[in-house]
Amino acid sequence: MSFTTKICCIGAGYVGGPTCAVIASKCADIKVTIVDINQARIDAWNSKDIPIYEPGLEEIVFAQRGKNLFFSTDVDAAILEADLIFVSVNTPTKKTGMGAGFAADLAYIEAATRRIALVAKSHKIVIEKSTVPCRTAESMRKILDANSRADVNFDILSNPEFLAEGTAIKDLQNPDRVLIGSMQTEAGLKAQQALASVYARWVPKERIVTTRLWSSELTKLASNALLAQRISSINALSAICEATGADVDEVSYACGLDSRIGPKFLKASVGFGGSCFQKDILNLVYLSQSLHLPEVADYWNQVVLMNEYQKRRFAESVVRTLFNTITNKNICILGFAFKKDTGDTRESAAIAMVKYFLKENANIRIYDPKVPASQMLYDLTVEDKVDVEQYNKRVTVCDSAYTAADGVDAVIVLTEWDEFKTLDYKRIYGKMNKPAFIFDGRLILPTAELKKIGFQTITIGKGDVE
Ligand code: NAD
Ligand code: UDX
Repeated sequence: MSFTTKICCIGAGYVGGPTCAVIASKCADIKVTIVDINQARIDAWNSKDIPIYEPGLEEIVFAQRGKNLFFSTDVDAAILEADLIFVSVNTPTKKTGMGAGFAADLAYIEAATRRIALVAKSHKIVIEKSTVPCRTAESMRKILDANSRADVNFDILSNPEFLAEGTAIKDLQNPDRVLIGSMQTEAGLKAQQALASVYARWVPKERIVTTRLWSSELTKLASNALLAQRISSINALSAICEATGADVDEVSYACGLDSRIGPKFLKASVGFGGSCFQKDILNLVYLSQSLHLPEVADYWNQVVLMNEYQKRRFAESVVRTLFNTITNKNICILGFAFKKDTGDTRESAAIAMVKYFLKENANIRIYDPKVPASQMLYDLTVEDKVDVEQYNKRVTVCDSAYTAADGVDAVIVLTEWDEFKTLDYKRIYGKMNKPAFIFDGRLILPTAELKKIGFQTITIGKGDVE
């Protein structure tokens, strides 16, 4: 088949994979090649066990793969033939050096940009898909421009991704908006239109928003900061609810009915997780500091501090409720992913909780429908180390909620998986030590029913600690 356009996506992760799979599914005449330096990840994309769990993704990949969707480690070949190149590599928070703990590590962005500059033999539109600090496109443009030749030049666009994990395919197929930032030059605007025409195959024109480069970059950080700020706000209110006997779900519902506030992202929880919110707010804090705006930096930093407080507050309430000691007690953790419908555990509240309980010498039994034991071992022992010996002695990964809850003193729900709403809690109660405590970190459990069975229930923001 001959293709009208060729797209290359550098980075076959949670964003590059789903985003470009959806482009391939919507544009049969466009050849989409997703490349990565990670051979194992590419092998998985080319196998029947794709590396990411995301509802609806597998079906699209299986339908398009080998037709107009390809996965490869041959980065150079994909760059050479592409007209449009998405850069969708990871931009984690820096761990060391200048800005450590706040600034984004742009080493992967720079490496990918340099590769494009080195390999390209014709005009390319380079699209910044990764989330980056404001004015990163400027640095990318400088690298590309410095390598331009008579017949090889580059346009740079910012096209941040707003998908949420667990609903990525739905979000990509029916986005609230697609944002494309460009230089306000003739060539920049032409490149902007070229990318807009790809999205216009399935996204209504009024939802394709075009802006300047820097506005587009900042909008991505701002959107995540505003969303996370709502969660920290409702979580702050959940602490007041517990102290006063108010019910955070009622408060959230009644506040959300105000059309100026709206109902979304007001669900109290054990704390937000995921690879984006914390990283992007810290990035915004660093940007504010760099711009000599310390009050602005402090304002956004408080969103992250409140999230840390919420996790700590919840973990402490477990220990307090279990008579101030969990040493050698058995604790069941239901859910390890940072939210339902994903196997992703990055910055999951469960990691912080389990580490906290291990420091108190509790025995932990974990069940999550999508997170493999190897991932839990990695999360708990590699970063911020729990001793592997301690892990082996204290942690058991189980294949069902019932096995995980067998013989425990407390069940703690940390991810809002639908299956946790309808478990046979009588059966679970029957196998637990008494008094049987159940902690709802996601406000999903049928509390009245559980109380009738005999459970002692503790719910965030409900003030029902017995
Ligand atoms: P990820 O870690 O899942 O994937 C990034 C991939 O890029 C990795 O597989 C890595 O091997 C590859 N890579 C790194 N350098 C490379 C290079 N030079 N050449 C080829 N491949 C290279 O990350 P992700 O979750 O897909 O996030 C990517 C970007 O998108 C980040 O900036 C993130 O902030 C942003 N983002 C993520 C989400 C999300 O929900 N995960 C949503 C919106 C935006
Ligand atoms: C987020 C943004 O929503 C998305 O637009 C961006 O592209 C990437 O970052 P994601 O992190 O995948 O997406 O999931 P999201 O649904 O935003 O949830 C993030 C965290 O907040 C999860 O831990 C979730 O459980 C928590 N959350 C969400 C709450 O605690 N309460 C809420 O009301 C909503």
